[in-house]
Amino acid sequence: MSITEGLRNPLSMFDVKGKVAVITGASGAFGRACALSLGALGGKLVLASGSKEELDEVLREVEEVGGEAVAIQRRPDSLEDAEAIRDAGLEAFGKIDQLVIASGTNKAGFIHELDYKDWQDVMDANVRGAWFMAKAVGTYWIENEIAGKMLLMSSVRGRHGNVSGYTGYCASKGATDSLTRVLATEWAKYGTTVNAIAPTVFRSKLTAWMYDENDELGQATRARSLARIPLGRLAEVEDLTGMALYLLSPASNFCTGQIMYVDGGFTAG
Ligand SMILES: NC(=O)c1ccc[n+]([C@@H]2O[C@H](COP(=O)([O-])OP(=O)(O)OC[C@H]3O[C@@H](n4cnc5c(N)ncnc54)[C@H](OP(=O)(O)O)[C@@H]3O)[C@@H](O)[C@H]2O)c1
Repeated sequence: MSITEGLRNPLSMFDVKGKVAVITGASGAFGRACALSLGALGGKLVLASGSKEELDEVLREVEEVGGEAVAIQRRPDSLEDAEAIRDAGLEAFGKIDQLVIASGTNKAGFIHELDYKDWQDVMDANVRGAWFMAKAVGTYWIENEIAGKMLLMSSVRGRHGNVSGYTGYCASKGATDSLTRVLATEWAKYGTTVNAIAPTVFRSKLTAWMYDENDELGQATRARSLARIPLGRLAEVEDLTGMALYLLSPASNFCTGQIMYVDGGFTAG
């Protein structure tokens, strides 16, 4: 039996050099981490978010680690926005290989006090935006016979409830899990893979309230999460980038429709 290239050179399975990734929410903690990791490995990045200054800073950092990037100040609030993000990538690099949905938000509040609009905003940011991006980039992949790689950001909250007023967030992450599975099955015939990472809590703007000592609900939420994590700590973005690299590289070519729990053991207990 001959030794295949994948066995002789296992790191070649993780090769993302020259691949073009569109990242929404690129100004956020996970989006930035993903951009830097791919950029450092020779990837080309299309960075999208609503904040120009923060985007420009990530762009500068990607270049500092040796990557190539363009930035587009846009959130995927409509199909038109999603197509503009996609087209910025096509214009800059001529192709798109990977799609990372790192945009998202949370508006915690108990349902009896929560405004419907807050619930809808969370659903729109976390689910509708992913759907628009999937439609825009997926159509391009299908029309051009490209086997793409899509990565969504779910959460353990897609599977578990939370006493801290998470009706919008939990519902949106349950929908993210479902979108991951249905796109994976719909696109399997094209060779495109669709997977999600589901963390517990990692440090970001989204979770800053859990690190704020004056925020009572935040402190209680953080303590409750910690008590449920066997590895005994909250995550940092570097805990997630290895999984992201796996899901965006040829190493994961036979893995699709999966919700990968990078959660310190939260869902194991
Ligand atoms: N941090 C955690 O503990 C944790 C745990 C589990 C899952 N996640 C998920 O991981 C993903 C990334 O979160 P993160 O922690 O990296 O958050 P983050 O640092 O707050 O970044 C969120 C990104 O989304 C964009 N964004 C914010 N509100 C938006 C909206 N309404 N519509 C569209 N885009 C919006 C932000 O950019 P602009 O404001 O510039 O547009 C930013 O780039 C999210 O889906 C989140 O639910 C996070």
